[in-house]
Amino acid sequence: MKIFVETERLLLRELTPADAAGMFALDSDPEVHRFLGNRPVTTLAQSEATIALVRRQYQENGIGRWAVELRATGEFLGWAGLKLIREPLNGHVDFYELGYRFIRQFWGRGYATEAAHASVAYGFGELQQPVLYALADLQNLASRAVLARVGFEHRGEFDYEGGPTAWLEARPPQSRA
Ligand SMILES: CC(C)(COP(=O)(O)OP(=O)(O)OC[C@H]1O[C@@H](n2cnc3c(N)ncnc32)[C@H](O)[C@@H]1OP(=O)(O)O)[C@@H](O)C(=O)NCCC(=O)NCCS
Repeated sequence: MKIFVETERLLLRELTPADAAGMFALDSDPEVHRFLGNRPVTTLAQSEATIALVRRQYQENGIGRWAVELRATGEFLGWAGLKLIREPLNGHVDFYELGYRFIRQFWGRGYATEAAHASVAYGFGELQQPVLYALADLQNLASRAVLARVGFEHRGEFDYEGGPTAWLEARPPQSRA
């Protein structure tokens, strides 16, 4: 299994079919989906399909969201990482977007911040990107706090899937004026 990044507490690795139960625990929780359109999954097959979709993105784009595993226990915590967005979104196309989603019992321990930080470093380092993007429901204050902590700046708002959404950008530290 391919490991992309190791941090102090986390492994960011390839998402595999063996993560289906973990993905179901994550995506069947309405609280996790509160700012994601309120459409939690109801069957394991939906989680298996999501994993297959992400694995196709690995093949086609060389990257996709990564599984986040707790090094100390091997537990599946959720996912984080960069996705190549090929369709136009808020006037941008072909860009890398940071995302993350964690099982509720693991919130509030800094794992999202740690995984987001490592993902951003990978985007600027391995991928040599001059800019990375993120979006978050305006009301998703926990996510916006994570994005601010890892260097994203609020660059405007747009309507995404019917809700007001923040658009954010991050640039490598040395390029900031
Ligand atoms: C968004 C989401 C990942 C944020 O999770 P989170 O637990 O708030 O974020 P972190 O894991 O980075 O935790 C940060 C909090 O843990 C605390 N913390 C505890 N130990 C910590 C540590 N070692 N390092 C950093 N922070 C730590 C921090 O003080 C911080 O609290 P604060 O925000 O009140 O200051 C989570 O709410 C989630 O998965 N939501 C559902 C999916 C979603 O909305 N995804 C984002 C879509 S845009």
